[in-house]
Amino acid sequence: MLDIVVGGFFGDEGKGKICSFLSLRDSPVAAVRTGSINAGHTVTHEGRSWKIRIVPSAFTNSKTELLIGPGALTSVEVLSNEIEGTGVAGRIFLDPHVGIITKEEVEQERADDYLINKIGSTAQGVGYAEAKRVLRKLRLAEDYNELKGMLVDVPSRVISHIEKGSKVMAEGTQGHYLSLYHGSYPFVTSRNVTASGILSEVGVGPKYVKEVIIVFKSFVTRVGQGELPGELEEEKADQLGLIERGTVTGRRRRVSPFNLDLARKAIQLNGATQVSITKLDWLFKEAYNVKEYSKLPQEAKRWLDEIESQLKVPITLIGTGEESMSTIDLRREKGIEV
Ligand code: IMP
Ligand code: MG
Repeated sequence: MLDIVVGGFFGDEGKGKICSFLSLRDSPVAAVRTGSINAGHTVTHEGRSWKIRIVPSAFTNSKTELLIGPGALTSVEVLSNEIEGTGVAGRIFLDPHVGIITKEEVEQERADDYLINKIGSTAQGVGYAEAKRVLRKLRLAEDYNELKGMLVDVPSRVISHIEKGSKVMAEGTQGHYLSLYHGSYPFVTSRNVTASGILSEVGVGPKYVKEVIIVFKSFVTRVGQGELPGELEEEKADQLGLIERGTVTGRRRRVSPFNLDLARKAIQLNGATQVSITKLDWLFKEAYNVKEYSKLPQEAKRWLDEIESQLKVPITLIGTGEESMSTIDLRREKGIEV
């Protein structure tokens, strides 16, 4: 069956870390990336850290086949650099319909005052390339000779794995409120990043889905423009130690406390069946690297219990440190078949 991992706020919730944990723990036969190179995922495993933008975060499990779905977009350069950086050559495959971003779209985006200054785009050419795809002017992976050896029909491959009874994981990008359709338009990205959008980009129907895991960070961050309810002054965020910078752009992220209303709505629209909370250790220092729920500080447990009772969806995966394996996995305890 297919498990989908989706972001619940404005991106940067820690999906990369959770996908890496799930690949190491569950050993899915394949993982499919959706989205594009505007998304930065930080993955840390056994003391090494990678910042990736298109290679699936599941790469940390060397047995997992890595796929990039037809709805995704990449540049050839970012893809080949990352394949080298992560050492995944030979087990990564692209659908022939993956869109290819060139220098032209990057230049067009950088020169677009509205996108750069009003929206706060990451300027990776993703929006322009997506627009060209809609106009049927974009070249696809199948048009590039150097990619020929890596092409595979991703939807058929995913379905064939699932029909053999194997587990496949679909990795989303950004977060619910950056969705082109369901987010805070126009301060959004150029695609629908919700669970239904992820399915559409992978190219398989909803009957194959088992779990939709929505990832929230223990606080909310946003880069670029657009509303952020309850936004903290920079000074206040400093005092609380909630200082983060963008993986792709290096921009300082704006911060607000965990937001139940945003979380509830994102759970509803994504049809989430499980909640993951990352960076618990950023709110409760003694939670750092804890791997068993019973060993968490009392106040952290109380905070999680309160959120779970409000959200009414089980909190199953709790991130307590940057390492992929610094994660508390409560799925079995909470009756979820893994
Ligand atoms: P674009 O998708 O690069 O054009 O950026 C549009 C908006 O989405 C801007 O506010 C960006 O900061 C935001 N955005 C795009 N990708 C990410 C991401 O991976 N994490 C967080 N924000 C993102
Ligand atoms: Mg990110």
